[in-house]
Parts: sequence; structure tokens; C-alpha cells
Amino acid sequence: MELKDQVVLITGGAGGLGHAMCHRFAAAGARLVVGYRSSAAAAETLAGELKGGGHSARPAPVEDSHRLAELAAEIAAEHGRLDILVNNAGITRFVAHDDLDGLDDELIDDIFRTNWRGAFACVRAMRPLLEAQGGGLVINISSIAGVTAMGSNIAYCASKAAMNTLTMSLARALAPRIRVVSLSPGLAETDFVTGLDQAWWDEQSRRTPLRRLASPEDVARAALAIATDLKFSNGCIIPVDGGRPLT
Ligand SMILES: NC(=O)c1ccc[n+]([C@@H]2O[C@H](COP(=O)([O-])OP(=O)(O)OC[C@H]3O[C@@H](n4cnc5c(N)ncnc54)[C@H](OP(=O)(O)O)[C@@H]3O)[C@@H](O)[C@H]2O)c1
Repeated sequence: MELKDQVVLITGGAGGLGHAMCHRFAAAGARLVVGYRSSAAAAETLAGELKGGGHSARPAPVEDSHRLAELAAEIAAEHGRLDILVNNAGITRFVAHDDLDGLDDELIDDIFRTNWRGAFACVRAMRPLLEAQGGGLVINISSIAGVTAMGSNIAYCASKAAMNTLTMSLARALAPRIRVVSLSPGLAETDFVTGLDQAWWDEQSRRTPLRRLASPEDVARAALAIATDLKFSNGCIIPVDGGRPLT
């Protein structure tokens, strides 16, 4: 119960990785605010089944800064504190890197609005609450695509590279009251990347030195470790990728 009575907001909390992180943080004693955009029912169900009490599901569309300010006020009124923000909300769509026309302006803007601007906007909105605790933490769910430039499309890779520099900039700017860390999964077993056949997934496992993809539980355990054990880590990128960039 290392996070007993701490309050954790996870954006995209009802998604594949978010779901696992909510369970892991709740099991450590935290009260969860499960942020959602479209998955209201799934988020409500999740909040109801988490271990412990005081959990809630809240609309948290990260492109809507006005709503994020409201959410900060709701968290302050209900809990009086926020200890950890996990910027997990993200989108992508598979577009081959040589298909430049397939990566249209609308998709590029959607990806950056959600994956980068949304993460920044969440920190901006939650900063006063996180600072008030004196030991606030932001975990940015990045991707190895932000370092390898291999991923579902070129804009997605760039958005995660930009998230990594966001982590470094904010870690410097918000220290010592708030730590900021990127958690960088390799390809994980969720519904995030769609439209690819089983042979492609098998090939990705085969190319990973540990011979499997990341599980949501791998990512959740790493996120919890950042909160509980890696207390002197700040402004860095923690990989959870089975060594995939080595091959
Ligand atoms: N799965 C992978 O292979 C992998 C690898 C590396 C990094 N990642 C990163 O891990 C994170 C979570 O991915 P996942 O695998 O769990 O995918 P997922 O199951 O598709 O979950 C994505 C979540 O993001 C939320 N979301 C999307 N747009 C949003 C917005 N505008 N505002 C608020 N929430 C929004 C969705 O919420 P609603 O359902 O409520 O709309 C959903 O819960 C993403 O940032 C992704 O880039 C994933």
C-alpha cells in the first residue's frame, strides 16, 4: 500500500494500458480518477471494480483545455489533492512511412493535438494540484517509436519524440516540486494498432530479444515502479520494450 491515500489521474484510463495501470495503482492504495474521452461506460465499470475506495470516472478529453481546468477543480473539491498524473491518452493509425499522401494534414493534426498538446495541457491544468503536494509526479506514456522512428506512422513517431523532449523540458522547469518521466513501451498487446495481420504481430515478437511483446501488466508495473521505487529518476525515458530497439 505504498500509495495509500494518494490520488492518481490516468488519461485514457479505460484503454488497454490504462486499465492495467488503474488496477496496479489501486492495488497500491491509490484513489484513481479514470479519465476518458468516449469510453464512459467502460471507465465507470472500471472505477467500480478497482480495489479500495474513492475511485471515479471523469470525462477528460485532452484536446479540451477548458474541460481539463474543470476536472482539476473537481479533483480539488473531491480529494483536495493530486499526486500523480499519467498522460496515457494517445491515438494513431497505421500509415506506411513511404505513403506520404496517406499521412494527410487532418491525421497529423489529430495526432499532435492528442499525443503532444493534450499531454502538455494536462500538466498545465494539474500543475497547481501536483505542486501543492511537494512531491508530484507526471508519467508521460511515450513509445520506443519516439527514439527509433519506427512505428505506426511518421507523425506518431514525431509526436512521441516531442513527448520525450516535453518530459525533459518540464522536468527542468517544474523541479523540485514535480518529477516528470517518460515511460516508453515497445509494441504492446492492446487494440491500439489495428488492421495488421497475425503474421505481422508474430514477426514483431520474433524480432524482440525477449521474444514477446510488452503486456499491459509490464507497463503498469513499470509505471508503479516510477512512482514508488525510482524516486530519484527525473527527466528520463524508461524503456519497457524487451530490447526491441537492439534488433
Ligand atoms: N499499445 C502499444 O503498442 C503502445 C506502444 C507504445 C506506446 N503506447 C502508448 O500507450 C498509450 C495507451 O495506448 P493503449 O495501447 O492503451 O491504446 P488504447 O487501448 O487504444 O487506449 C488509448 C486511450 O486513449 C484515449 N484517448 C484517445 N484520444 C483521447 C483524447 N482526445 N482525450 C482523452 N483520451 C483519449 C482513449 O480513450 P477513450 O476510449 O475514452 O476514447 C483510450 O482509452 C498511448 O499513448 C500509446 O501511444 C502504446
